[in-house]
Amino acid sequence: MKTFHLVSDCIAWRKNIVNTVGFVPTMGALHAGHVSLIKSSKKNCNKTLVSIYINPSQFSQEEDLGSYPKTIKEDLKILKGLNVDAVFLPSDNEIYPEDKPDNFTYENSLFKKLEGKSRPHFFYGVTKVVSRLFNIVSPTHTFFGEKDAQQSRIINQMIKDLNYNIRFISCPTVRSENGLALSSRNNYLSHSEQKQASVVYRGLKLVEENIKKGNVNVNQLKKVFTSMINKNQNIQIDYISIACNETLEELTIWSKNSLISVAIFYKNVRLIDNIVV
Ligand code: PAJ
Repeated sequence: MKTFHLVSDCIAWRKNIVNTVGFVPTMGALHAGHVSLIKSSKKNCNKTLVSIYINPSQFSQEEDLGSYPKTIKEDLKILKGLNVDAVFLPSDNEIYPEDKPDNFTYENSLFKKLEGKSRPHFFYGVTKVVSRLFNIVSPTHTFFGEKDAQQSRIINQMIKDLNYNIRFISCPTVRSENGLALSSRNNYLSHSEQKQASVVYRGLKLVEENIKKGNVNVNQLKKVFTSMINKNQNIQIDYISIACNETLEELTIWSKNSLISVAIFYKNVRLIDNIVV
C-alpha cells in the first residue's frame, strides 16, 4: 500500500494508471461505514485510493475540529487489510498552501437546506476540499455514503456543474446492531450512550411505520418522532425534516421517496441520520 503525504507524489502515482481509479475521501477514524465504501470501490475499480484528511474549512470555530477522533494507526491497519492501493494523508499546507489563491466559490441550491441551516459554513468547506481532492486524485469513480445524504446530493451536483468526469456512487448507511448509524463521532460516546442514541433510528422507523399506516401529515409525523426522542433526557433534537429527496424542499404532506432526516445532540455530540420512505 502506497502512502502519500505530498500532492506531487499523489499526482505522480495517478499519472501511471490507465485504468479506473476509485476515490474514497474520509476524515479517518475509520469504521464499517467507510469500509463498505472502500469495498465498493475495490469491486468497481482497478485501483482504490483513500484520503484521510480532517478538513478545517468545514468546521466552524465552535465545532469539534480540535477534538475530532484521530486513530491513524488503526486506520492504516484497516486499509492495509483491505488491500487498498494508496492512501493520501495530506497536511493542511498541502491542501491549503498559503502561497496559492483561495478563491473557490462553488455553491448550489442545496447548500442552505437541512444541515446548511444549522451549519451554514459546512458545505462551502466540504465542496472546497472535495474539489481540491478531485483535482489532485483525478479519479474515474468516487464513493460517498447515504448517511450524509445531503453531502452526497451536493457532491453529485457539483460533479455535474463543474464537469468533473467522475462517476458518483452512493452507498447505503451501515448501522450497528441496535440501528445506530456508524459515525466517527460515535467515538465520543460510551457503549451504553451509543445504545441510548440508537433511539434515533427507532424514531425514524416509527415515522416510517406511521406513513405505511396512512398518516401523511408531516407535522404529525414530526410529532411522532419528537415525542419518542423527548423521553430521553440526554438527547436534544436539532431538527427533523421531511423533504423531497432530490430538491430537499420541505414537504407538508409526505409523498413517495421522501428523505426523512434528523440531527440530534446527545449531550454535546451532534449526530445525523436519515431514511428514505
Ligand atoms: P467522513 O465523515 O469520514 O465520511 C467519509 C465518507 O464515509 C462519507 O461519504 C460518509 O457519508 C461515509 N460514511 C460515514 N458513515 C457512514 C455509514 N455509517 N455508512 C455508510 N457510509 C458512511 O464525510 C466526510 O468524512 C467529509 O465531509 C469528507 C467528504 C471526507 C470531506 O471532508
